[in-house]
Parts: sequence; C-alpha cells; structure tokens
Amino acid sequence: MAIAGINNICVVGAGNMGHQIALCCAIAGYKVKCTDISREILTKADEFVNTYLPQRVAKGKMAEEAAQQARANIFFTRDLEEAAVDADVVIEAVLEKLDLKLKLFDQLDKICPEHTILATNSSFIVSSKIAPATKRPEKVCNMHFFNPALVMKLVEVVNGPHTADEVAQKIFDLAKDIGKIPVMLQKEIYGFLVNRILAAINHEAMHIYDMGVASYEDIDKAVVHALGHPMGPFRLMDLTGIDLSYYIGMERYRETGDPTHKPSPIIVEKYVKKEWGQKTGKGFYDYPPK
Ligand code: CAA
Repeated sequence: MAIAGINNICVVGAGNMGHQIALCCAIAGYKVKCTDISREILTKADEFVNTYLPQRVAKGKMAEEAAQQARANIFFTRDLEEAAVDADVVIEAVLEKLDLKLKLFDQLDKICPEHTILATNSSFIVSSKIAPATKRPEKVCNMHFFNPALVMKLVEVVNGPHTADEVAQKIFDLAKDIGKIPVMLQKEIYGFLVNRILAAINHEAMHIYDMGVASYEDIDKAVVHALGHPMGPFRLMDLTGIDLSYYIGMERYRETGDPTHKPSPIIVEKYVKKEWGQKTGKGFYDYPPK
C-alpha cells in the first residue's frame, strides 16, 4: 500500500458492485468500511467475504495469512457516519438514481474530513451532476469498476471539468495499487468508454432478438463462439442486472427524448416481473440457488 494519504476507504452500497469493490481494497491492504441501508444486503456481503477468502486459499490463489488480513481489513456497518467519518476516499456504489446520489453526497460532504475524495462508481451518471451536492467539487470524480469487480481489471477514472487533476491522478494511482488497470478519461462522456461499446452491442443484439431472427441463446452463442467474448450480451445483462439495463435505458430516454434509447419490451417485461438476472435467480437464464 503506497498511496500517500490513503489508508481508510469507505464503500457506500454493498450490493452487486460495492461489496466486491470493498473486498478488492481490503485484499490490497486498505482498511475498508462498507455500508448499506439494507441489513439483508450487508449480511449477504459479509457471508460472501467469509466464503470467498477461504475459497481463494483452498484454490492456492491466496496465502492463509493474507486472507486473514483481508478479512480483518473489512468491516460492514449500516451506520453511514461510522463508515465515512475517517475515510480518506469514499467509493459510492448505490443504485443508479441521481436524486439518491445527490442526497448521499450531501451527507458525505458533511460527515467526511475536508481532505476526503468522493468517488462514484456510477456506470453512466457523470460526476459533474453529483459534485454540486458538495462543497468540494474538486474532490469528486468517477471511478468506474466492472462486474465482477474482483475479477475485471479495468477501472475507468474520469477527470471531470470540476475535478482537480491531482484528485483524478490519486484515484488512478489507487486503482493501480489495488491491482487494477486504470484508464483516464479527460472528458466526461456518456457511458465512458466501455458502456458506449457495450451499449452498441446490446442495442443490436436486442434489435435482432426483437425482430425474431434468433433466440437470445443463439445470439449469445454467436458472440461467444465467433467474437470470443467470455459471455454473450444476454448472459452479461443477467450478470450486471436487468434492473440496471432498465434504469440506464429509461434515464437515457428521459435525457435525450430519443425513443431508440427506451429499454426494449423484453427488458421492461423482465424488470416488471423482477427477473433481474443472477441477483433474483432468473433473468434471460435461470440461476438456481447454490
Ligand atoms: N465474483 C468473484 N469472482 C468470480 C465471479 C464472481 N461473481 N465469477 C467468477 N469469478 C472468478 C472465479 O472465482 C474464477 O477465479 P480464478 O480463475 O482466479 O479461480 C474466475 O472468475 C473464473 O471463473 P469461472 O471459471 O467460474 O467462470 P468463467 O471462466 O466463466 O468466468 C466471468 C466468469 C469472469 C464472469 C467471465 O464470464 C467474464 O469475464 N464475463 C464477462 C464479464 C464482463 O464483461 N464484465 C463487464 C460487464 S460491464 C460492467 O460491469 C459495466 C457496467 O457499468 C454495467
């Protein structure tokens, strides 16, 4: 651990992304407090850590001592103030709703010490929309991880127009220090790098499906076995969450008024039925409980 001034990290949101981001930081040696308003999500996150670390040891991917240290480095709490009060960096990973993030950043600004950097893991909300909720816009930026965060190496860091260069650089260095491969975006752009590319693939995959040309299973097969992606777009939506695909589509449609950004009917149907993918046990595919 070698980033000057960063010892304590607070991760807000212990869901799909948050608990794994927190664990990445804990494994790298940082003291991490991970918080969520849901007791159930926190319990699940804690159980995940208790299962994941011994599995890494059993697989020979981590020394017993390192696993014990990582476990000792991570602490879960429902109390936002307790989690953030001594944080040097906060990484926010809550639901993709701007009003929620504005409220949270306002609270964090009041709780955290003056020097604390407030980063958001948002997939598509640029930090210039969130920074005005704080009195420290120069210390706010995007730090975007990919799912599953323990596995995927890339982190997109966005140096927003309000962000101080040294703040973006510190977050870039932090990403490197926790074993990630960061890229620095010098402009805020909708969807950053990866989600722009992914959206183009998803849009076309969905269009082909809606036209009745092929099943989603076959579209996934095509992408895996011809393009070499580890999973096809439908299975990937199950992994990242169909609720997220719905929110992103709706938010983009609201912003642009362009009906091609509206979520496709099958996404709306699955959203309403709570078939959100792996997290609810059913999406395009079924995920029986382990
Ligand atoms: N959490 C933690 N680790 C996991 C995991 C999970 N959910 N799923 C798999 N892994 C780990 C396994 O432990 C295993 O680790 P080791 O090799 O070190 O033992 C490794 O990943 C491979 O796992 P498996 O052999 O079980 O499965 P796989 O080879 O099929 O890989 C996968 C699973 C890593 C998810 C792979 O299919 C993959 O890379 N898929 C693409 C994921 C992707 O594109 N992510 C980006 C999504 S876009 C996004 O996140 C942006 C956004 O804003 C929405």
